[in-house]
Amino acid sequence: MTTAVHKVRSHYDEVAEVYDHRYDANRGKFYYNNISHHVMERFQKGGRLLDLGCGTGLFVRHYVNEGGEAVGIDISRGMIGKASDKCGSSDFTIGTAEVLPFRDGSFDAVSSLLSFSYLKHPEKTLAETYRVLRPGGSIAICTLGINLFTRGLPAIYHISEAMNLKKACFGAFGERYYSVEEMEQLLYEAGFIEVHGKRCSFAHYNLARPIYDIAKKIEPFVERNIPYLAYNICASGRKTFEEGTESPKKLEI
Ligand SMILES: C[S@@+](CC[C@H](N)C(=O)[O-])C[C@H]1O[C@@H](n2cnc3c(N)ncnc32)[C@H](O)[C@@H]1O
Repeated sequence: MTTAVHKVRSHYDEVAEVYDHRYDANRGKFYYNNISHHVMERFQKGGRLLDLGCGTGLFVRHYVNEGGEAVGIDISRGMIGKASDKCGSSDFTIGTAEVLPFRDGSFDAVSSLLSFSYLKHPEKTLAETYRVLRPGGSIAICTLGINLFTRGLPAIYHISEAMNLKKACFGAFGERYYSVEEMEQLLYEAGFIEVHGKRCSFAHYNLARPIYDIAKKIEPFVERNIPYLAYNICASGRKTFEEGTESPKKLEI
């Protein structure tokens, strides 16, 4: 395990106990429901899901509540512990999303919410995802995109770390923020078809209250008309039924 991965794992072990607090209250709940909705709409309900970087199991719980079955994998033992407490009927594995300990074709859907930015070898994860999906299965990833606001984040993280504000803010983990085009390219290269990426969520829970209130009101407008300002990217694709029989067309959603 590299130092960077070790650092991410230790951070999430440390914050596991309090992680859900950010999504319990109004702002966080609204934000998380919004991104869960964007991911969920890429899947058929009632399948078997693998959630990569599942954390405390927030999306696993969402998927199961929608009538599916779900399994989670995460590098942090602390986060997995919280997920197991929360979602007793689901299975959780401690491990990296870059090497998946699951059989070929064993899932209908693979998700990743707010964890893809940590991956040092995203192409490895996507190759593994392709392998564990059944033919016709879907992937949907929600990850912080690069935009006007997120460009400054690495600097803020470095400063907060230097000031020992790790718990209040995040540490500097060398996270990677993608453009929609980069996410789509990665999915195409992994062999997915019906690839579609779009920006979502403008009302980020970290915004100061008055700004957040305005952001929440104009979120649908921003998502539709000024997507570059939205914080996250939701990118999805589908595994072919048979190699070479379907073209890598772009899906209109
Ligand atoms: C911001 S949290 C998101 C957790 C959860 N997906 C959610 O939506 O609340 C990021 C998670 O990614 C996990 N993570 C980071 N790198 C990982 C890797 N290489 N493999 C698996 N999990 C990873 C962390 O341990 C952490 O639980």
